[in-house]
Amino acid sequence: MTDLGEIKDGARGMWSRGDYGRLAERLESAAREVVDGCAISAGQEVLDVAAGNGNAAVLAAREGAAVVASDLTPAMVELGRARTESEGLEVEWAVADAEELPFEDERFDCVTSVFGAMFAPRPDVVARELFRVVRPGNTVGMANWTPNGFNGRFFELANGYAPPPPEDMPRPLDWGREEIVRERFAGLAGSILVESRFVHWSFADADASFRFFGETAGPSVTLMGMLDDEARSRLREEFASLLDSWNKATDGSVEIDAEYLLVVARRRG
Ligand SMILES: C[S@@+](CC[C@H](N)C(=O)[O-])C[C@H]1O[C@@H](n2cnc3c(N)ncnc32)[C@H](O)[C@@H]1O
Repeated sequence: MTDLGEIKDGARGMWSRGDYGRLAERLESAAREVVDGCAISAGQEVLDVAAGNGNAAVLAAREGAAVVASDLTPAMVELGRARTESEGLEVEWAVADAEELPFEDERFDCVTSVFGAMFAPRPDVVARELFRVVRPGNTVGMANWTPNGFNGRFFELANGYAPPPPEDMPRPLDWGREEIVRERFAGLAGSILVESRFVHWSFADADASFRFFGETAGPSVTLMGMLDDEARSRLREEFASLLDSWNKATDGSVEIDAEYLLVVARRRG
């Protein structure tokens, strides 16, 4: 049996590590797609779930929406709060688990989660929570890495070096499969739009990309800290050959389009 408390403590610990702001800058295009896909506008009440340091929350607030941003990891909430304060944006921050949102039913006009709720261990509980807090007829927007895109493949590679997850735990990358999203949202959504989108990664070279993920993404930072020199250099080699198979640049630099699913679902009335 999966120990949920342990999984969530582990997630909090991992996402507290690394220089997340640098990664968030490179993920902003996906937040833009979700905010535009949901047509977030002035006057709406918006909840960003697993908000990290607030990419979608910031864009929604700039549109004039009243935004609440929540995340499981207190360190992320602190980072996000400092960011929105420094930008002079009024965003309310809360430490909250996507599986247990501390908000009343039907409070929001839109609920977003960009590469966030996909990491919670109980996807059906998450789906129910996202739809519970959005008003009937309104939208839930997600961005989810696909299993067959570059990031999906990178996660698979990294997972081979990490302690195995509990056997009964669904894979976060399942949120990147259209048929599974449709299954999870069946009975909750009246309409679901699913489209393929890409985050563009651009780096000076393979070493710079390896260093970047190892310094910014909490789970990768954690993994690097666990590996000995031999395992780290094996991972670096395998990562370089993964990059090679995706890289569009031919001059030693790295230019990769990493696929994710943009999901915009409307709650059944
Ligand atoms: C890749 S970051 C994405 C952050 C942000 N949405 C963005 O676009 O930059 C994943 C986030 O999910 C959060 N997270 C992981 N499990 C969660 C859960 N069960 N409930 C809420 N947040 C969670 C982590 O703390 C982390 O901030």
